[in-house]
Amino acid sequence: MIQSISELTGKTKVLGIIGDPISHSLSPLMQNAALRALGLDYIYVPFRVRPEELSTALLGLQSLNVAGFNVTIPHKTAVVGLVDGLSREAELIGAVNTVTREGAHLIGHNTDAIGFLSAITEGMGFDPAGASVLLLGAGGAARAALVALAQAGIENITIANRTQSTAENLLSLLKHAGSRASGSHTSLAAVCADRALLGSFDLVVNTTSVGMGGTAFANFDVTWLKPGARIYDMVYVPSETPLLQAARAAGIKAMNGASMLAAQGESAFRLWIGCDPPPGLMLERVLSALAALS
Ligand code: ATR
Repeated sequence: MIQSISELTGKTKVLGIIGDPISHSLSPLMQNAALRALGLDYIYVPFRVRPEELSTALLGLQSLNVAGFNVTIPHKTAVVGLVDGLSREAELIGAVNTVTREGAHLIGHNTDAIGFLSAITEGMGFDPAGASVLLLGAGGAARAALVALAQAGIENITIANRTQSTAENLLSLLKHAGSRASGSHTSLAAVCADRALLGSFDLVVNTTSVGMGGTAFANFDVTWLKPGARIYDMVYVPSETPLLQAARAAGIKAMNGASMLAAQGESAFRLWIGCDPPPGLMLERVLSALAALS
């Protein structure tokens, strides 16, 4: 990685991220820190790409010989139909967050699933095998979490979502992911009102935007969770959502989404570079950037 702009040469390889908006992205910070720490002649650049320009942007990235790139909101689903091949996870999830190049071909991957799995296993010491999980939400992030949990051998999943049809669709992914776990869907209100049901979960995962800007789930009583249950909240701004505050007050082991953000980045780095980034460095950079925001 380049220490200063004067070190950019004709040999420097370019990585990047496409999204709209892109100025808030923490990926350039954490990826460039890892590239620099390993002394690699790469640079990672943010590109704002409007939805109507997505297909021409992909052609442009190919023509410019960009070595690989991340994909973020709102392009993760659209990129699926624009690449030449997909990893199994990207195909199952129906979304791409990382693109690699194999010769002239662009291959779409999804490292959100492995990033989530690493966040709950390594970050929180949670073993998903045989677990009962409550998944809050059924959008793109929930799809990645469900595929990760299904592949990690959970026994049971309840999806609580505002829109039941989306939750029902998501349940069909369990089988496609090769899982024999049982699944059901319900509303957020129903699960919050059912003490026995709430007390049956080993892990609660929030994949919705509830918590951003300090918003809270109405009537979610974390003290109804069973002893030892964990909470993973994918939101990381604010770093402690009302759900996580409640967990801390109740002595429940819980984590925010910063660890998943860093872990999906580490996994993308491995795909592009072929080696591990320095352990903990990406998370450290993400946490200090988030601390500076608050
Ligand atoms: P992402 O890619 O981040 O998962 P998404 O695909 O738009 O984003 O999904 C957002 C999820 O958050 C959905 O499950 C959505 O519920 P609906 O399917 O009913 O739309 C959920 N969500 C968003 N705002 C919410 C709110 N205020 N209360 C409850 N759920 C909410």
